[in-house]
Amino acid sequence: MKKRLLITGGAGFIGSNLIHYLANKYPQYELLNLDLLTYAGNLENLKALEGNPNYRFVKGDVGDRQFLEPYFATGLDGGIHLAAESHVDRSITQPDIFVQTNILGTQALLDLARKYKVPRFLQVSTDEVYGSLGETGYFSETKPLAPNSPYSASKASADLLVLAAYHTFGQPVLITRCSNNYGPFQFPEKLIPLMISNALEEKPLPVYGDGLNVRDWLHVKDHCQGIDLVFHGGRVGEVYNIGGNNEYPNIDIVKLIIKALGKSESLITYVKDRPGHDRRYAIDATKIKKELAWAPEYDFERGMAITINWYLENQVWWQTIKSGAYQQYYQKMYGQRERSFS
Ligand code: NAD
Ligand code: TYD
Repeated sequence: MKKRLLITGGAGFIGSNLIHYLANKYPQYELLNLDLLTYAGNLENLKALEGNPNYRFVKGDVGDRQFLEPYFATGLDGGIHLAAESHVDRSITQPDIFVQTNILGTQALLDLARKYKVPRFLQVSTDEVYGSLGETGYFSETKPLAPNSPYSASKASADLLVLAAYHTFGQPVLITRCSNNYGPFQFPEKLIPLMISNALEEKPLPVYGDGLNVRDWLHVKDHCQGIDLVFHGGRVGEVYNIGGNNEYPNIDIVKLIIKALGKSESLITYVKDRPGHDRRYAIDATKIKKELAWAPEYDFERGMAITINWYLENQVWWQTIKSGAYQQYYQKMYGQRERSFS
């Protein structure tokens, strides 16, 4: 069946992977990619879709109701909302833009989706809304929200507004909450692409604190598969966790990358910890597995090998990003953290 879907944030890491995934699986769908092209948006990620008559890019802000209205007025069969400010470190230095985009932007989309009776609206959220775990336990969908960073607080606020739209207006919404993603096209400010690209450039690898914070890693394509299943088959008003059950301390990830690239561990540079740094994330994905038969395809070792190889083969992609404005950000961010970092 033909469907017309709005994807927000489609020029970012997960959004561009999702657009490729959907365009490949549902070639008959019309995909409208709305993205503001902030520092994190990159149309290079979608070059392969240029000329595809069922794909269209529109540059715009999710908070700009006037601009968005005509796109909703033409009729949409669904919306998948990924556009966001997504980096915790940036949320510490500039929380206001996170409130603007992640909270107010989501409310603008919700209001328009309700006005134009969009039959399905999926909010792509994060496990970070649950807060931090100790050494044991998992995040299930019923765990009370306890976000700790301005980023996770803004995502939790958006999730509550989405659920409020369901309870108050019966709006057909769904939420996915995913653990840390890795894969192609990830902006090199996030742990894995930053470490791969720095190691290739023989630059210091800045590990926060003691390096023992734990993240639960999921290949982005497995996340896309989960989003697809929830969008098409999930129960409205429900939250679905998506996670790969791949818990690793950060230092292990860094060492794995060093080894795979044949570099020296002397590149590892411990730097001052991130303020309020969540210790451990771990997802319980039983619900999506049972209800929607979601099963990740990538085991972590294979997924990382493929990912490292992608960054090796696409050096121009990340080198272009790392020159220019990002360079100034990097100096500012890591300059402040300086311990032994240079
Ligand atoms: P990203 O930073 O790579 O991409 C975000 C995209 O949103 C960019 O293309 C940017 O240009 C766009 N954008 C930002 N502000 C906008 C605005 N006001 N209007 C329109 N577009 C705007 O982020 P990502 O890692 O791809 O994450 C996508 C979504 O998934 C986010 O909602 C994030 O919270 C969520 N998520 C990410 C992860 C992860 O590990 N990366 C894990 C769980 C959930
Ligand atoms: P990140 O990729 O920023 O994702 P998130 O904070 O949303 O989980 O960071 C992943 C982990 O890696 C987190 O514990 C912080 C740590 N980290 C470093 O140690 N050094 C770095 O340079 C970065 C970017 C992250």
